[in-house]
Amino acid sequence: MSLLELKDVNVQYILKDKKIMACQHIDLEIEERDSIGIVGESGSGKSTLANAILRLLPKRITAVDGEILFEGKDLLKITPEELNALRWKEISVVFQKSMNALSPVHKVGKQMEDVYRIHEPKANRDEIRKRVYELFKIVNLSDRVYELYPHELSGGMMQRVSIALSLLHNPKLLVLDEATTALDVVTQSQILQEIMKLEENMNLTRIMITHDVSVVASTCKKIAVMYAGCLMETGTVQDVLVNPKHPYTQGLLKSFPSFKGAKNDLRGIPGSLPDLSQEIQGCVFADRCPYADDRCRQEKPVLRVVNGCWKVACHKAGGE
Ligand SMILES: Nc1ncnc2c1ncn2[C@@H]1O[C@H](COP(=O)(O)OP(=O)(O)O)[C@@H](O)[C@H]1O
Ligand code: SF4
Ligand SMILES: [Mg+2]
Repeated sequence: MSLLELKDVNVQYILKDKKIMACQHIDLEIEERDSIGIVGESGSGKSTLANAILRLLPKRITAVDGEILFEGKDLLKITPEELNALRWKEISVVFQKSMNALSPVHKVGKQMEDVYRIHEPKANRDEIRKRVYELFKIVNLSDRVYELYPHELSGGMMQRVSIALSLLHNPKLLVLDEATTALDVVTQSQILQEIMKLEENMNLTRIMITHDVSVVASTCKKIAVMYAGCLMETGTVQDVLVNPKHPYTQGLLKSFPSFKGAKNDLRGIPGSLPDLSQEIQGCVFADRCPYADDRCRQEKPVLRVVNGCWKVACHKAGGE
């Protein structure tokens, strides 16, 4: 059984005047100790998917269907109590601006104690402090941060506090949604190296959402490429980045002159995302794809297996 399995997950934002199909027919299996990077340009539905996993989407304006199975349990069907029991302890999510979640009126250490006691109500202060110091080491923060208020920290320090918080209970699954993007390159790399050690030693599984393919290349085993709410290509980093089969993945990689070089964005592919409030009949990438033909515009390609976990959603790639 996979640790996390998404089966035909669809997410719509239902606004006054339109519906936006932010995620469409997402099928994805994530195994224990996998590290998978979800990449795609801004607006492709990555954060929506991350939020859907932990039911963090605004209920009033979203419709989610499909199955999101965590250790076989459908996260879309469990009770709010069951969901709370999983948060932090089994699954943690860190967003780019997670510091907004910190209260300005309490010291960092006190807030970490509070989160610790959600699942360990009897824990004593010394025990918690010891655990927090361990985590501060991982995210490269000094112990004195325990006694500071959030306003005394820089943005980067707060983000590192958020990552430490997410690891407090040794979750099985860690979702980082652009969580290290704003950190300087050295700090980002150092934190990810430490998290990779946890993956080896503690059975941690990581979903890393980023627009930065080079980070995925250097820190993930697998990759899933998203475009316009759809998965375009998934597989091992080795397969997909060395020999991309989907025209979008190929374009994406061309916009990165060097994986090890400085950060780039994904402006290498001419054109822009389609309007997700309009139903798209054929391939969502057709308007930007150099190989698009009539079939592409009429018939939506589905993810097909190329080899093992390597899958591509393109009429002209893999097996034809
Ligand atoms: N709260 C929201 N209300 C309405 N539309 C939203 C909301 N959040 C995201 N969207 C839309 O959903 C689509 C996917 O967005 P998002 O998941 O944030 O993509 P990404 O994380 O890949 O940049 C975009 O078209 C975006 O405008
Ligand atoms: S299905 Fe057609 S339009 Fe879509 S990526 Fe493949 S070749 Fe391009
Ligand atoms: Mg996002």
